[in-house]
Parts: sequence; structure tokens; C-alpha cells
Amino acid sequence: MQFEKLSNGVSIPMLGFGTYKIEKSDVADAIQGALDAGYRHFDCAHIYGNEAEIGEAFKKSGVKREDLFITSKVWNADQGYDKTLAAFDQTIKDLQMDYLDLYLIHWPNEEDFNLTLDTWKALETLYAQGKVKAIGVSNFSEKQLKEVFAMAKVKPMVNQIERHPYKVQAELGKFDTDNGIVNEGYSPIGHGHLILEDETINKIAKAHNKTAAQVVLRWHIDTGFVVFPKSSKVSRVKENFDIFDFNLTDEEVKEINALDQDKHLNY
Ligand SMILES: NC(=O)c1ccc[n+]([C@@H]2O[C@H](COP(=O)([O-])OP(=O)(O)OC[C@H]3O[C@@H](n4cnc5c(N)ncnc54)[C@H](OP(=O)(O)O)[C@@H]3O)[C@@H](O)[C@H]2O)c1
Repeated sequence: MQFEKLSNGVSIPMLGFGTYKIEKSDVADAIQGALDAGYRHFDCAHIYGNEAEIGEAFKKSGVKREDLFITSKVWNADQGYDKTLAAFDQTIKDLQMDYLDLYLIHWPNEEDFNLTLDTWKALETLYAQGKVKAIGVSNFSEKQLKEVFAMAKVKPMVNQIERHPYKVQAELGKFDTDNGIVNEGYSPIGHGHLILEDETINKIAKAHNKTAAQVVLRWHIDTGFVVFPKSSKVSRVKENFDIFDFNLTDEEVKEINALDQDKHLNY
């Protein structure tokens, strides 16, 4: 496993497991399958509607809390200082944990950014109370991050954004890095479509005797992005974890970077 260091010194595994769209009935097997494959970093969110089942699965697994890295996110409807604190309480109750490793604002409120700034203050409170080891944001632009910097006591440590070879996020990624923010890339394999059929990626995969998904995940890590692909299939969960025995050449990284179309991929 490779690790990235957040600005406060907290260590985050660069490969994790995504939990969006894992049906409640599949959660127990999916989480146990991911733990068996070696994942210890799990990306969760209240809006995914499966945190209670995830909490149950961790409890059953017997894995020690301190060996896990757990992220959750405050949903749009829960923004605001008091509502965020209440949403956090619900999330840790569902997950059956007494702290989170990382708590994020899921989306900025475009119409009322002051509400989002109040939400940030709540995250700072949770951080000061030791209930979260690190705090950050998701889907924030450079402009929105600058507004947070202007009022923050604690700067965001993470920005989680859509990222795959058709949306390379070079500018925002550099802005984040320049400001001490670790980049996380969501939908890293583009939901398993298009990207995995791309000719360039398949050519590189063949050269390394790896799959297209493995090459794309390796590219994320080689370019400094933390990722957490989701799969409900045991074979893919294992495949996506098996990326630590090869590296891409600088030329291959450049070839993948050149596939950028700034394209948002829908489900
Ligand atoms: N902050 C945000 O706004 C935000 C938004 C979206 C996602 N996220 C987070 O990011 C995580 C990952 O993103 P994502 O779930 O959108 O997309 P993703 O991980 O890029 O793709 C998941 C899809 O790809 C398929 N897949 C997984 N591994 C595969 C493989 N090796 N070969 C072929 N297909 C494969 C999965 O199908 P099977 O399950 O059938 O294998 C699933 O349909 C989410 O689970 C969530 O935690 C955050």
C-alpha cells in the first residue's frame, strides 16, 4: 500500500474502497470481501443510504478500528452549523464508531455559500473536539476553496473531485497541491465504461500484463490522487487492489494525461 500525508500529518492509504451504490443487501459481503482483499480505507457518505449496514459489517469483521481509515460526508440537506453536527452524530451512530478519520462537505451550496461556510465551522468544531482526525471538502472549485481559506481556522486537508483519464483535473489538482490539499479522485475508472475500452489504456495494459482498470488506478496514484473504486464483485475488488507490483513510465503517464476531454461521466 502507498500512503499520502495530509497537511496535519495524518496518513491516508492511497487506495480505498468506494461504497456508493452498494445495495444494503450486498454490503456485508462487499465490505468483508474488501477487507479480505486488503482494503482498509473506505469512502462512505450519509446520502449513500448504507452507513448502518457498513457499520454492522465492520463490527462483524472484528477488524480493529485503529486499522481502518473511514471517510464520510455531510449531505446538502444537512448543511449549516447545528444540522451538520447532528448529521455527524447520525453518521457515527450508523457506522458504530466514535470518530471518523476524515469528514467532508459533500457539495458546496452554490446558491448560499454562507451556509457552506457555516458547515465548514461545524467541521472545525468536530476537528477541535477530536471527533474527526481530518476535515475536507468535495466538489469545490478553486474560487470556493479561496472563500473557505479566507474564513477558516483550519484549512481543508482534502478536496474530493471527479477524476479519470477523460477528466484529468490538471488545474484544480495543481491548485489543491499548491495549497497543501490532498486530491482524491472519485469515479476513478469512470464507472467501468468508456475509459476501460479506451485504446491507449488497453495498449498500456497489455504492455504490463495488467487490466485497463489496474492501469487507470495506477495512473491515479502515480499522479498523486487518492482513489477508492467501487465494486460489488469479489473478483474486481481483488483486481482493483492488485496494483502495487508495477509502475507506469513517464511516457505512459503523459499518454494517459493526453486523453483529457474535461468530460463529466454520468452513471
Ligand atoms: N464526492 C462525490 O460527489 C462522489 C461522487 C461519486 C462517487 N464518489 C465516491 O467514489 C467512489 C467510486 O466512484 P464510482 O462508484 O462513482 O465509480 P467507479 O469506482 O469509477 O466505478 C464503479 C463501477 O465500475 C465497475 N467496476 C469496478 N471495478 C471494475 C473493474 N475492475 N472492471 C470493470 N468494471 C469495474 C463497478 O461495477 P460492479 O460493482 O458491478 O463491479 C461499478 O459499476 C464511490 O463509490 C464513492 O465512494 C464520490
